[in-house]
Amino acid sequence: MIVIAPLSDVHLDGDRRAADRTRAVMEYLDALPHDLDAVLVSGDVADHGEDAEYEQAAELLRSRHPVVVCPGNHDERAAFRRGLLGETSLSTAPVDQVLRGEGFVLAVCDSSVPGAHHGFLEDSTLAWLDGLLTDTPRETPVLVAFHHPPAALHTPYVDEIRQFGEERLAALVERHPHLTAFLCGHAHTAAATTFAGRPVLVAPGVVSTLRLPWEAPTGSSEHVHLDEPPAVAFHVIGDDGRPVTHYRVVVDRR
Ligand SMILES: [Fe+2]
Ligand SMILES: [Fe+2]
Repeated sequence: MIVIAPLSDVHLDGDRRAADRTRAVMEYLDALPHDLDAVLVSGDVADHGEDAEYEQAAELLRSRHPVVVCPGNHDERAAFRRGLLGETSLSTAPVDQVLRGEGFVLAVCDSSVPGAHHGFLEDSTLAWLDGLLTDTPRETPVLVAFHHPPAALHTPYVDEIRQFGEERLAALVERHPHLTAFLCGHAHTAAATTFAGRPVLVAPGVVSTLRLPWEAPTGSSEHVHLDEPPAVAFHVIGDDGRPVTHYRVVVDRR
């Protein structure tokens, strides 16, 4: 059994609110009596993409479990590399990463577009992912993570800035039956749908929760709930390769 805990959209901005929520989630995961196979932070780590925000992220996202962090539309690639990966390169190429666990592969793709809020997988990222899937034995489940969902979620504010160019990703999926699920963030709402016949599992937002159209008072421009508690999920991959997801809200007990 493989257990991966995704959390998303911590939006660290130097203020206590985002930091306290992030700390509460990470402390909850660290206090679990059993080890996790991975903790995935699926983007929008630093609210303004600044070095100081990544310094705070590096401290808050430390865990006794293996952690992998992917960039979102609020992140800056070079600062992300400096602050979270310890790289000195000023490269603004996509930050694509892989975590090879026992019995699974977590492919973390950079769907951010510098200077824009929508998502897109560059050709180099798709080629990298295709190679990774080709090189991974078919009995090994491969989970593919990125910030932007490749499908609309009936969330008007987010659907406009979802991942586009997704037909290229769908073509790739057809060639790789062991691509088990897509793990995303960005929408600030725990959600599930499908894309190219695979589950798309959207992690809940830590800093806020999206207000869905039928939750928003008429005429309100407030597109998020700020009073909903932060949340996290557990994706479980059983021996049959089937993903199951559980969700937990996290209460800050300090
Ligand atoms: Fe976000
Ligand atoms: Fe985002």
